[in-house]
Amino acid sequence: MLEMVATHPQYRRRGYIRAQVNRFHEMVSDRHFDLSIIWGIPYYYRQYGYAYAIDGRYSADSLPASAIPDAHQREQSPYKLRQATVDDASVLVQLYQ
Ligand SMILES: CC(C)(COP(=O)(O)OP(=O)(O)OC[C@H]1O[C@@H](n2cnc3c(N)ncnc32)[C@H](O)[C@@H]1OP(=O)(O)O)[C@@H](O)C(=O)NCCC(=O)NCCS
Repeated sequence: MLEMVATHPQYRRRGYIRAQVNRFHEMVSDRHFDLSIIWGIPYYYRQYGYAYAIDGRYSADSLPASAIPDAHQREQSPYKLRQATVDDASVLVQLYQ
């Protein structure tokens, strides 16, 4: 996730944000991330290849697993979703903390 970007008013329109976004995308690619998100000015980030996905809220955002479409048959997903079990509790507590 790329957050939060701002350029000093006296230095805007010189390509600084474009350079940072390009560098950020190199890092996303180098680390083989599947997803890159930005919470920002609606539709501004289309120019960098982003699509408007969900309305941001100030307290929390959520993307229910049921809203994530299945991978295309051609795609090999490295992840699988399953129900949590009691055995997962200690790991989940660590993640929440
Ligand atoms: C939005 C902001 C970060 C852009 O910074 P910048 O350094 O001027 O951006 P760049 O010079 O790298 O411009 C990148 C592209 O965005 C475009 N752009 C810049 N400001 C824009 C604006 N207000 N509206 C629409 N497009 C804009 C530029 O034309 C450029 O496109 P191009 O390369 O095709 O010419 C800057 O105006 C800012 O700091 N605003 C206040 C803080 C803010 O709103 N941050 C974003 C929070 S999500």
